[in-house]
Amino acid sequence: MPHTFAVDRFSPVRFDPGHALSGREVDVLLEAAGRAPSAGNSQPWSFIVGRRGDQVYQRLARHLSRSSSMWATGASLLVANLAHRFVEDSDIEYSEFAHYDVGQAVAHMTFQAHALGLFVHQFRAFDRDAVASEFKVPGHWEVTTMAAVGLPVEGARHLSGAGTSRERLPLQDITWERAR
Ligand SMILES: Cc1cc2nc3c(=O)[nH]c(=O)nc-3n(C[C@H](O)[C@H](O)[C@H](O)COP(=O)(O)O)c2cc1C
Repeated sequence: MPHTFAVDRFSPVRFDPGHALSGREVDVLLEAAGRAPSAGNSQPWSFIVGRRGDQVYQRLARHLSRSSSMWATGASLLVANLAHRFVEDSDIEYSEFAHYDVGQAVAHMTFQAHALGLFVHQFRAFDRDAVASEFKVPGHWEVTTMAAVGLPVEGARHLSGAGTSRERLPLQDITWERAR
């Protein structure tokens, strides 16, 4: 069997709105993200972080799509995940692997959340341009995804994403080639 993290992790569709994260827990989540590997140690990531009740959270929540606002606003933490795409004032790529590395950083955050008894739902359903302009993200950075972090409530595991199945492809379908 894979590690319990891989087996038990899921993207909750309902969070406990009574749960709060401490500032120290938020630090630990960000520290875990920052420890992810990246091409040439380029660390092409940055995070806009709002704890429920604070003004950053409210400014992020304003730009959720209708579908995600139905569940993400119960989360204890909303995080917008930014990728460093270009060298400032140029069209030269900062890192060819920026998106890849941001994904790994968020995966590290997700793993750390699990160790704290929390769950993460990553999502695309928000207005990326509006978040960029709300937080004055310059053009050489890109708002990629958001992550909602918190404590799931009963029944939060059924579906992740509107109508999305949680079925996984069998091993043979995800193995291009392998010697037996
Ligand atoms: C890059 C990315 C974008 C996603 N976008 C959305 C989204 O917009 N809305 C949503 O409800 N879930 C979204 N998800 C969550 C996926 O639907 C979910 O991870 C997938 O269905 C597998 O379910 P599980 O995470 O519970 O195993 C996204 C996940 C990733 C990694």
